[in-house]
Amino acid sequence: MNICVIGSGNVGGALARKWVEAGHAVLIGAQFPLSEKNVQLARLIGEERFTSIASAVSHSDVILIATPPAAILEVIAHMGDVTGKTLVDATNAIRSKPEPYDTAYHALVDRTGGEVVKCFNSTGFENMLDPVYQGEKLDMFMAGDSESAKQIARELALDAGFGTCWDFGKGAQVSLLEQFALSWINLAIMQGQGRDLAFRVVRR
Ligand SMILES: NC(=O)c1ccc[n+]([C@@H]2O[C@H](COP(=O)([O-])OP(=O)(O)OC[C@H]3O[C@@H](n4cnc5c(N)ncnc54)[C@H](OP(=O)(O)O)[C@@H]3O)[C@@H](O)[C@H]2O)c1
Repeated sequence: MNICVIGSGNVGGALARKWVEAGHAVLIGAQFPLSEKNVQLARLIGEERFTSIASAVSHSDVILIATPPAAILEVIAHMGDVTGKTLVDATNAIRSKPEPYDTAYHALVDRTGGEVVKCFNSTGFENMLDPVYQGEKLDMFMAGDSESAKQIARELALDAGFGTCWDFGKGAQVSLLEQFALSWINLAIMQGQGRDLAFRVVRR
């Protein structure tokens, strides 16, 4: 797939690395001059992948958004026309909402003609870099109204090394998926259990 990553810090950088490894054509829609995190990422995946947001978007069918949620309206303004493209929202509006929207997903649905899915928001970036615990692949989760975007998010989750990608439901469940991320943050950070833990669904 032709993938553009906007917001190539902890989460975007981890997924960019995994998708490059999986053989996808990955471009980084970056802010210039490059931040220290992006300079380090460029050393790992090649600086030729770094370009403006508009240029990276125009060459891509799938766009991962992993910026602070408050930046979403600015990101939308820089992306240009994304009609028919798949927009994967990995943000969590936990500390503050991207007003007037509850989440970046809702802003993307309202303000773009893209196919939007919330995914890659529910676990720490370390688990995206290494989603295997004791030989078992972790689960990823997604939500949104677009079935085509979910199909692509599922494929990209598997390509990043996750075992499966559970469908949390439609757009009405997007905020629940952010609360699910908050549950991980609560256990890992607020309750002090550490970031090397993850959720996996098991069936009897
Ligand atoms: N950290 C996690 O484990 C984790 C897990 C799941 C979901 N999330 C969510 O993922 C998102 C990113 O988190 P992170 O930890 O990866 O953050 P981060 O390391 O701080 O990276 C944020 C990225 O967004 C870019 N950015 C900031 N403002 C921007 C703007 N106005 N336009 C374009 N790009 C902009 C930054 O660019 P510069 O480098 O140029 O500053 C940086 O590349 C957040 O919404 C967070 O809630 C985080």
